[in-house]
Parts: sequence; structure tokens; C-alpha cells
Amino acid sequence: MKKANTTKNTASEHKTNSRFTPPGAGAASNLRALFIASLKDIYWAENALVKALPKMAANATDALLRSSIHDHLAVTENQIARLKKVFEMLGEKAEGKKCDAMAGLIEEGNGLLEETEPGPVRDAGIIAASQKIEHYEIATYGTLFSFAKVLGENDAAQLLQQTLAEEIEADKILTDVAVSSINAAADKA
Ligand SMILES: [Fe+2]
Repeated sequence: MKKANTTKNTASEHKTNSRFTPPGAGAASNLRALFIASLKDIYWAENALVKALPKMAANATDALLRSSIHDHLAVTENQIARLKKVFEMLGEKAEGKKCDAMAGLIEEGNGLLEETEPGPVRDAGIIAASQKIEHYEIATYGTLFSFAKVLGENDAAQLLQQTLAEEIEADKILTDVAVSSINAAADKA
């Protein structure tokens, strides 16, 4: 069996490596700083999502899909309130920092609307775009939960775990709507 490579780059090796990215201003030097920065990222992302979801709902034809998106809007607003509590628990100001990933995912969702005829095909596209967003959020909250635990921020971890469970549930609902009706309808369109 091949032995795992445990070689670490030394500081001097970094300097001579042209692919190495030097840290920028305000770079996180500990896990807590990375945790706070990641919270700011998802805080921006959730706020961007609140603005994007009504357009997604307005473009959905299937009544169940539309109501699921409206439900998730209310859930998202509550998640923002929960994030504010997390910032408060940590003694930090609740503020967002642009999340390039969510900005891109929303842009892709908007592009999909133009690229699809309204009806089941557009609905299938809306579900596809929404599930990419959900998976990004599941990954993010999973990481944030783990960071909170290792930092001993158990109350914050509990809140982040609640949101993680909601994102998993939202993803499951989207799968159910797609599989139970929309995908087949889109196939017949
Ligand atoms: Fe969310």
C-alpha cells in the first residue's frame, strides 16, 4: 500500500513556489476568524436568496413547486434571524460579505429562466437550480456546525444544526416534487 504523503511545505518552500497564494489583508489566522468570515459569507448568501426566491416562485407553473418556494422563503427569513443570534452569541456584528458562489448560483438560475419555455421544462430547470443552491447551503452549514463544535460554541452549533436540517429537508422536498410529477411532465412537453 502506498504511504500517505505527510510532507508539509515549509515557509521557505512557499516563497519559492510560484503557485502559492500569499495571504491578503485581514486574512484569518485562526479557526475562529475563519468561522466568523464564513458566517458573514452565508449571511450575505441567505439575504441574496430572500431577494431571488420570489422571482423563482413567479416563474414556476406547478402549484406545489410554487408553494414550496414560498415556504422556503419564510424558512430562509427565519434562518437569517437565527444567524443574527449566532453573531450575537459570538459577540460579533451581524454583517454580510459577498458570497461569490451564491451570486453565481443565483445568476445561473436567472439564466435558466431565459433558456427554458414556461411550464414543466422551466419548472424542472427551477428545481435543478434550487437544488444546486440547497447543496451549497448544506455543505456550508455542515462546515459551520463542525467549526462551532470544535471551537466549543455549542449554542451556536445547535442553531446551525437546525438550519442544516432545514436545508436537507428543502432539498428532499425538491427531489420529491421533481420525481413525483415535474420531470415526467417535462419529458412529455
Ligand atoms: Fe438557507
